[in-house]
Amino acid sequence: MNKSRQLYEGKAKKVFLTEEDKELVIQEFKDDATAFNNKKKGTIAEKGVVNNAISCKLFTLLEANGIRTHLVEKLSDRDMLCRYLDIIKVEVVVRNIAAGSLVKRYGFKEGTVLEKPIVEFYLKDDDLDDPLMNESHAVALGVATLEELAILKNRAEAINAVLSKFFAERKLKLVDFKLEFGRHNGEILLGDEISPDTCRFWDLETNEKMDKDRFRFDLGGVEDAYSEVQRRVLDFD
Ligand code: TMP
Repeated sequence: MNKSRQLYEGKAKKVFLTEEDKELVIQEFKDDATAFNNKKKGTIAEKGVVNNAISCKLFTLLEANGIRTHLVEKLSDRDMLCRYLDIIKVEVVVRNIAAGSLVKRYGFKEGTVLEKPIVEFYLKDDDLDDPLMNESHAVALGVATLEELAILKNRAEAINAVLSKFFAERKLKLVDFKLEFGRHNGEILLGDEISPDTCRFWDLETNEKMDKDRFRFDLGGVEDAYSEVQRRVLDFD
């Protein structure tokens, strides 16, 4: 499979059409890092390679657990071959432990274990700073139907069950994470990536932060944290 025209360049990835098949695209993972909707910018050495490896492994795990994703195959260090998606402009966040904007917005104490996971919808719109929204907003905006939102919530809960168990076995707490979905031939598939850019991971024993919060809040040791997550995800079996 070879790249043809670039379809899109985002903050962490580029997406290319393929020469061979209009149903397939190539997602190229970059080392660029942004936080707080582009207000903070930098690079994390080899992040693209690490996030591609982690994402391919996790999407394969999800597929094995009956959750359909856009992954076709890992093509190279930075390239993932994917099914073309009509991206749904909803970011789905699942939270198991209070952190980040949940603490800021609602006053939860950081680290509080939530009795039941919280599922949130955000509008995927950088110009508006990805605002939190409910089902009525999403339907009124025309970004998804009620039926689709119900599927996204169910799918997110199922993904959380699979991933929480997987990470616990690798001595990581899955604190929270963000998912994106898209439409493909009448089906809804999981898209984008799952990586330390899009999840919060805390070490099971020490609660050390092992994700993009190290970059967001200048905690140091960003590359080491990403490669340690990669090691636990890939070298465990
Ligand atoms: P938050 O606590 O800042 O709302 O983030 C919740 C989770 O979603 C966290 O794991 C980081 C992830 N996330 C993204 O992947 N992209 C984003 O733009 C934001 C705001 C959060």
